[in-house]
Amino acid sequence: MTVDITINQIAKFEGQQVSVKGWLYAKTGKGKLQFLRLRDGTGILQAVAFRPELGDDLFENIKRLGQESSLVVTGTVRADERAPGIPGGYELGIERLEILQNVGEYPISPKDHGVEFLMDNRHLWLRSSKQWAIMRVRTTIKRAIIDFLDDNGFLNIDTPIITPAAAEGTSTLFELEYFDEPAYLAQSGQLYNEANIMAFGKVYCFGPTFRAEKSKTRRHLTEFWMVEPEIAFCDLDDLMALEEEFVAYIVQTTLKERAAELALLERDLTHLENVKPPFPRISYDEAIDRLHEIRDETDDPEQKELLKIEWGEDFGSPHETELTKQFDKPVFVYGYPTAVKAFYMEPWPDRPEVCKSVDLLAPEGYGEIIGGSERMRDPDVLIEAINRHQLPLENYQWYIDLRRYGTVTHSGFGLGLERTVAWISGISHVRETSPFPRTLNRMRP
Ligand code: 4AD
Ligand code: MG
Repeated sequence: MTVDITINQIAKFEGQQVSVKGWLYAKTGKGKLQFLRLRDGTGILQAVAFRPELGDDLFENIKRLGQESSLVVTGTVRADERAPGIPGGYELGIERLEILQNVGEYPISPKDHGVEFLMDNRHLWLRSSKQWAIMRVRTTIKRAIIDFLDDNGFLNIDTPIITPAAAEGTSTLFELEYFDEPAYLAQSGQLYNEANIMAFGKVYCFGPTFRAEKSKTRRHLTEFWMVEPEIAFCDLDDLMALEEEFVAYIVQTTLKERAAELALLERDLTHLENVKPPFPRISYDEAIDRLHEIRDETDDPEQKELLKIEWGEDFGSPHETELTKQFDKPVFVYGYPTAVKAFYMEPWPDRPEVCKSVDLLAPEGYGEIIGGSERMRDPDVLIEAINRHQLPLENYQWYIDLRRYGTVTHSGFGLGLERTVAWISGISHVRETSPFPRTLNRMRP
């Protein structure tokens, strides 16, 4: 009896006749043999056609199959440790083959293509094994995020996408017409999370957020997913302790569940295995001192120029890269200058030029993956900050109310999904971590 299976189940069917539905990923052959690499979404399987067993007609048809032809292949499963594929170690001796569609010319061949060409063909590029592996890592990271928070007493409460006011500064707002007044796509769910914690204690939102980022970098998308936990009765130290547990859980879960995908991506795992609490914590002041030392020590004039920074300025990606090189784990940088951060961060006691913010920087040059802070507690301090940032006070009255009716110390953070996927997968550009990425220059396909 023939059983319909998917490739990821192959090990359970050694010696049996099975049918696999899928697409032809690649093909090689010589003489009486053709080796098909079949993919079905769950894995990649080598299927072997042997002319004397199949007869000349079918064998010739197989030889004419183009890349991405859709097929149903039936045959017997054989164990062979040399057999390539995912999971690998098994191959199919073809006995029957139904051709659903034979594809002539497929745009993406095994040869090297430029990334713009591949992005234009994103709808097809997703089928390539590397892209396939990245998306599978992404789904595991999403699941790990949800599992960790659900298991730790957080309630998943959704926040609106259409908003009347900025959460993260007015320079990256996507504006839309909301009947007869302007509205914006949400840059963050945080402000609503702060209302939600006063009702539910610990909450998170997890979904797409939007920023009209005019910069073209390998870390910026205009639509990205962010998970934002927010916690009542939580200060900056509690927040860092939570973040390190959270990030370690995500990394260790992915290492366990996506070993094959990370191997396919040729990810060096040594840095990731090390991602366990505690993470080093340095202040912004110390980070600036370290950067000045690094800059003094370099003889490279280009580096010297790139690493220029004075107290009060925000880090650029060269600064983050150099800082993280000094540690073998993600590193917390806390206490940034108030002027470079969003309006809602609690001032440092007796040092109002510094705020209770914390960023988590990933190693190996991946830079900021988390931004978070303790939030302002005092309504008057908050009103002053809103005015200083020239935000229209009337849109924030409800947010100020949260400080009028039972204000408490509270904190939260946002972790960017795509940057986290890029780091864990070892992919240099975030565009490959989103199935259909949106950037300054691209919203197609
Ligand atoms: O540091 P950000 O702007 O922080 C916030 O939005 C806070 N409201 C979060 C909070 O406290 N609830 O963004 C948080 C993270 C960044 O560290 C980064 O990982 C990601 O979101 N991020 C982006 N990812 C891709 N493309 C962009 N344009 C991003 N902007 C931020
Ligand atoms: Mg940030």
